[in-house]
Amino acid sequence: MAPPAPSAGSIPLVKALILAGGAGTRLRPITHTRAKQLVPVANKPILFYGLEAIASAGIKEVGIIVGDTADEVRAAVGDGSAWGLDVSYLPQEAPLGLAHCVLIAREFLGDDDFVMYLGDNMLHQSLRGFVDTFEAARAAARTPTLEAGAADVPAAQILLKQVPDPHRFGVAELDRLGRVVRLVEKPADPPSDLALVGVYLFDARIHDAVAAIQPSARGELEITDAIQWLIDQGFGVNSDVLEGWWIDTGKLTPLLEANRLILETVEQRLDGEVGAGSRIDGRVVVESGARIERSTIRGPVIIGAGTTITDSYIGPFSAVGPNCRIERSEIEHSVLLGETSVIDAGRIEDSLLGYHVIVGRTDRRPRATRLMVGDHCQVDLA
Ligand code: TTP
Repeated sequence: MAPPAPSAGSIPLVKALILAGGAGTRLRPITHTRAKQLVPVANKPILFYGLEAIASAGIKEVGIIVGDTADEVRAAVGDGSAWGLDVSYLPQEAPLGLAHCVLIAREFLGDDDFVMYLGDNMLHQSLRGFVDTFEAARAAARTPTLEAGAADVPAAQILLKQVPDPHRFGVAELDRLGRVVRLVEKPADPPSDLALVGVYLFDARIHDAVAAIQPSARGELEITDAIQWLIDQGFGVNSDVLEGWWIDTGKLTPLLEANRLILETVEQRLDGEVGAGSRIDGRVVVESGARIERSTIRGPVIIGAGTTITDSYIGPFSAVGPNCRIERSEIEHSVLLGETSVIDAGRIEDSLLGYHVIVGRTDRRPRATRLMVGDHCQVDLA
């Protein structure tokens, strides 16, 4: 039996569940060895943007679902005090689905309302308004009016974004009041252009939903099925449409896009050394310990701590991670994660280079391109 809707005067929403397990197959080879939520965007791990958004929405207690990359996530986030958060880690034995994450977080969540946030998603808009709308709708529904008795207290609120290609997403069908009447996964004939964004608000009734549903054809407990269960029980599921950008960073193209959007917001800061004969144009961040020699950097660009750029050009929308070495090369619209050298490489564009990568040129005969490339890589030769 579903518990009754929480009573009036319940505490404001203070808990979040962040999903940072999963397999990350779509970002291989980068995620063969590391968590996709820790891949940097503008030199900062994706997950940190989520933690910042959650902290600034007034949330204090965070449970992070972790899988095979648990140690790495713990090492990066620690106890959460860097964001004023109190973080607990909730191990998931295998990526059994988004609704499975709610199932195993039962004890951490108790009967509190909470935000569920996919750790590889990035949003432009603050979460605060979204949380406030949910709590206000719940409070209003608990206040009897003269015309009607207490309306149904909404059990959930989902965040939606208009997209040009809804058949690639979970899609919501709404009634004229913006309440969700149906959710469909990757529909051939989408009922709307509103895709589900990876941020959800729930009250305790979601626990009955995730316990009631069965795994889908791909063997996962789907959060869309759990939300559909709420709707089928007659519980209200509200929606809010996102205005700013939203990126599910789990693939290469959206990752480069997220870099572009974040770099667009950086302000010039030159903490490192910019030697004579170098030129810095526009919004460029040079972190301390970085050195630019006889090079042109055209922003927006970020150059990580300890990186040296010599006789080179770094063009717009590039993020060069820490301790890289770039000599006699040109790089544009690319991400270099860190500890990587690019020497006499000509021009590199639209690329993602992992950690400890070496790209160079040799005079060795016979002249040839020599590669040592891991699984699932892509190389486009000019
Ligand atoms: P997805 O991108 O849906 O799944 P995935 O991480 O397995 O990626 P891929 O499809 O490339 O293999 O996951 C969204 C977020 O939720 C992401 O941060 C990983 C996390 N997640 C879990 O923590 N547990 C799970 O069981 C699943 C499916 C995802």
